[in-house]
Amino acid sequence: MSLENKKILLMIGGGISAYKSLDLIRLLQKKNCSVKVVLTKSGKKFVTSLSLSSLSKNRVFEEIFDEKNKGNIDHISLSRWADLIMVLPTTANFMFRLSKGSAEDLASTIILASNKEIFLVPAMNVRMWEHKATQKNLNVLMDYGYKFIGPEDGEMACGEYGKGKMSSPRQILSFLVKFFKKRDLLKSKKIRAIVTTGPTKEYIDPVRYISNESSGKQGYEIALELSRLGIKTTLISGPTKLKYDNEIKVKKVVTGKEMLEAVKRKLPTHIAVCAAAVSDFKPIYSEKNKIKKNQIKEIKIEKNPDILSFLGKSNRFKPKLLIGFSAETENLIKNSKIKMQEKFCDMIVANDVSKKDRGFHSDFNEVLIIDKNGKIEKVKKNSKKFVASIVAKKIVDTFLSNEKNLN
Ligand code: C5P
Repeated sequence: MSLENKKILLMIGGGISAYKSLDLIRLLQKKNCSVKVVLTKSGKKFVTSLSLSSLSKNRVFEEIFDEKNKGNIDHISLSRWADLIMVLPTTANFMFRLSKGSAEDLASTIILASNKEIFLVPAMNVRMWEHKATQKNLNVLMDYGYKFIGPEDGEMACGEYGKGKMSSPRQILSFLVKFFKKRDLLKSKKIRAIVTTGPTKEYIDPVRYISNESSGKQGYEIALELSRLGIKTTLISGPTKLKYDNEIKVKKVVTGKEMLEAVKRKLPTHIAVCAAAVSDFKPIYSEKNKIKKNQIKEIKIEKNPDILSFLGKSNRFKPKLLIGFSAETENLIKNSKIKMQEKFCDMIVANDVSKKDRGFHSDFNEVLIIDKNGKIEKVKKNSKKFVASIVAKKIVDTFLSNEKNLN
C-alpha cells in the first residue's frame, strides 16, 4: 500500500547490474508506482531504451537538450515530478562526478537541481568501493544529504568477492516500502516537532552580551532531517550564521527567555529536541545605553530558564519524546545519564567536547545516543549532516515504536 501512486525517477548508470533495473521497474509497477527513467550514456551500453520504456510505460529521457521537448526543461520538471530519485547502479565514476557537483548530463543536472530525496545504489568492484577516493566521495555525498542503499557483500560480476555488490531489486523495494510507510504514517498523523538550536545572546547593554560559540548547525541539520522524514518541524534558533533552507519553518530568537516563549507558543508538540546552547546566565538588567568605560560597575547575573527541564517537568505539555543534548569534557556517559534523569528526557545526545575537530567549532561531530533504558549507540566522527540523519532516524523509530506499544 505504501508505494501506491508514488512517483519514482530512476536513473540508470553504466554498470553490469543495470540489468536489475528492469526487474525493479516491474516490482514497482506491481505496487502501482509511476516510474520514469533517465538513461545515462554509459547505462545505454547495458540496457536498451526500448526495454525501459516498455516496462515503465513512459518515454525514456536521455538528453539534457532535447529538441523534441521544446518548452519543457526536463531537468527541472522531472525533479519536481518525482517523490524520490534513485540512481542504480551508482558507479564509482558517477559518485565522483556527483561529489564535484557536475552538471554535464541529464542525470547529474537533475540531481543538482533537485529538491527531493536522492537514493544512490552503488555497485562496483570491492577494491573500487574500498578505495580512499571512493570513500572520500561517499563522505561528501552523505554530507550533501544523499542516502545510500547498500552496497552488499557478495560475489560480483567480475568474479571477486566482497562489499560492492548492488542490493537486489527486492532489497531495494523493501527499503522503499519502509521509507514511504514511515513518512506517510508521520504525515497522516500530523506529527509535530520543535528543535531548539544555536546560542542565545544575553545583552548587558546595547552592544555587549553574554553568549557562546555554538554554530547551531547540528540542531539545524536534525530539524531538516526530521522534516524530510515526514514530521512537521519548527526550528527555534538563536543567532547563527546559518542560511536556513525554506523546507522548514524557522523562528529566530535572541535571548533564552525569547527561546522559551517561542517554545511555549509551539506547545503541545509530539517531539522536542533541545539542541540549543542556551546561555546559562543572563544579566539581571540590560542597560538601555552603552555603559561607559569609566562607569565600571558590577554586572549582576541570574540563571536563564532551562527549556529542557521546563518541558520535561511540564504536566500538561511534556512531549511524547523529549531529547536533550549534553556536552561534557569528562565522564561523558555518567554525566549525560545524570542530566537525562534530572531533566526528565527520554534520550540524550552526548558529545565529548574535549576532543579536537568536532562539536562546537567544527562541521563534524561524534556522539553517543543514550536512551532511557541505558542503551548506547555510538555515531563515529562524521559530518553533522550525517550525524543528524542517524539521530533523526533514532528519534523517529523510537517515537513510532512507543506509539505502537501504546495502541
Ligand atoms: O545543563 P546543560 O546546559 O549541560 O544541559 C544541556 C541540555 O539542556 C541541552 O539539551 C540544552 O539545549 C538544554 N538547555 C536548555 N535550557 C537551558 C540550558 C540548557 O534547554 N537554559
